[in-house]
Amino acid sequence: METVRTIRSLKAALHGAASVGLVPTMGNLHDGHMALVDTSVDRCDTTVVSIFVNPLQFGPNEDFDNYPRTLPADTAMLESAGVSLVFAPPVHEVFPAAGQTVKVTLPSLSRLLCGRSRPSHFDGVATVVAKLFNIVGSDYAFFGEKDWQQLTLIRSMVRYLSIPTTVIGVPTVRAADGLALSSRNRYLSDAERAIAPTLYQTLCSLRDAIQHGDRRYRVLERHGRDALADAGFEVDYVAVRDAMTLRTPHAESERLRILAAARLGKARLIDNIDAGQA
Ligand code: PAF
Repeated sequence: METVRTIRSLKAALHGAASVGLVPTMGNLHDGHMALVDTSVDRCDTTVVSIFVNPLQFGPNEDFDNYPRTLPADTAMLESAGVSLVFAPPVHEVFPAAGQTVKVTLPSLSRLLCGRSRPSHFDGVATVVAKLFNIVGSDYAFFGEKDWQQLTLIRSMVRYLSIPTTVIGVPTVRAADGLALSSRNRYLSDAERAIAPTLYQTLCSLRDAIQHGDRRYRVLERHGRDALADAGFEVDYVAVRDAMTLRTPHAESERLRILAAARLGKARLIDNIDAGQA
């Protein structure tokens, strides 16, 4: 396994590679990331993992400066997983201009749900991911279903911009008690960690109600918000949506997705699950 820091050395290392899989990350890897890596290693001849803490996707009060940078531990995990190449560029290699003047924005998907409380986040994600697709020229790219809004946005971007990469969503990895693995879980105290699985349990109970025929989505969302608030969460949203457009379910909806975001102490947790046919 090789670790490269420049676009030029990445392209040299990829020269002549057959199928290339890209796993974009911001490092500080856990088993959720490793599920993406394993899927890519199984499917592609060459797997590139990018490790880049993207300044564009952090808001002014978010944790860019303190985001954990753990490259030696990350590369050790990736080496034993059979990764070919780690791309860990400095910021100026990805964003060379003094001011970033071009951005990729998908207003119909980036302003709702998490985009309401994180107004520039998804533009930052779309811009860096478009750049990574152009830099790596991957055949496949792997993203976690845990960030369903991000996955949906990237799928749309690839379609709208005709980017020749196939996007593969990988199911969420959960702790035994149901909590989705996330770098944010490190902010939870022991007491908050004990409460945190309520997020997943709440999504499951809404899904069960829908699958038993309850189609009162607004009422179910309110029950979900109440259950989370009772457990001690500060709720951002609980939403039953069309899985592809993230809009309120409508006559043409095929599948439903239930998504939620809620704060527990310093951690803003998100999760989502499939809720079956609309
Ligand atoms: O999901 C993440 O870790 C990031 O949003 C991504 C896709 C690596 C873009 O910086």
